[in-house]
Amino acid sequence: MRCRVCRSRAAIEVRRHNAAFCGEHFVEHIHRQVQRTIEDFEMFNSDDRLLLGVSGGKDSLALWEILTELGYRVDGVNLELGIGAYSVDSTNYSRVFADQRDLTLLEVDLQDEFGFDIPAAAASSSRTACSACGLSKRYVLNSVARRGGYNVLVMGHNLDDEAATLFSNVASWNIDYLARQHPVLVETDAGLARKVKPLIRVAERETAAYAVIRGIDYEIDECPMANGNTINRIKEQLNAMEQQRPGFKQRFLFGFLERGSPIFNEGPRPVLTACSVCGSPTTGDVCAFCKLQDRAAKPTGEGQ
Ligand code: FES
Ligand code: ZN
Ligand code: ZN
Repeated sequence: MRCRVCRSRAAIEVRRHNAAFCGEHFVEHIHRQVQRTIEDFEMFNSDDRLLLGVSGGKDSLALWEILTELGYRVDGVNLELGIGAYSVDSTNYSRVFADQRDLTLLEVDLQDEFGFDIPAAAASSSRTACSACGLSKRYVLNSVARRGGYNVLVMGHNLDDEAATLFSNVASWNIDYLARQHPVLVETDAGLARKVKPLIRVAERETAAYAVIRGIDYEIDECPMANGNTINRIKEQLNAMEQQRPGFKQRFLFGFLERGSPIFNEGPRPVLTACSVCGSPTTGDVCAFCKLQDRAAKPTGEGQ
């Protein structure tokens, strides 16, 4: 296999683009894919204040590197989830990355600031660990963005993540989630920062390859609490389809964004009001995060 650009020995094949690249031209290819996504979806420009959710995994660290290389100034925020050695290592990878490149990393410890961690949240509510984790990340990252004057919250979800989430939402016909599944969620007066996902044209194996080529050290282990979750199972099935039909995942996701998403978006938008406890935007009286915190932060045995 030869690089599509320079004809030297290829380091990686990208079958859905019917192409192979050497390390240097693969990096250029990824930068182009991300810049194109930012422009096509009008995500942000260099005047915006960008805050990236950084987990210490390959996607968020690769995205931080890509955006920095593309000339954007991006600060990171890491949320310490309290999932044992996995969380400690993830935070360390984020710190080392930021230190080495002189980038700003903000840190929030869920236990210190809100009195609970993800294992406690999963044990005290009917939510799975991943659901409690997703809710906590959305809430905390948004409030850090608002507090710090960042108008855009950048997330490292890749093509595999978004295709699997779409499949899951379609399989359960979750109309509300389908209406909100878009790489740009606009800011609201009620207090939600704009949320963008510039990696949706890049597959998981490509962010891993990018990280290796660029010498980025990242948390390789999967989260122990996400073991066997539905999204991971769907990813396996979509990968089997991709194997037989290169481009399957991209057609599924981008076909939805071009032709399906506008249909689900037609209905009235939910009215957001201020949570009576924390003041964050919510559709009910008390927001889902405050409800989770109320249950999870209680010492064991209380309120049973
Ligand atoms: Fe969120 Fe594992 S990283 S549950
Ligand atoms: Zn090349
Ligand atoms: Zn609240």
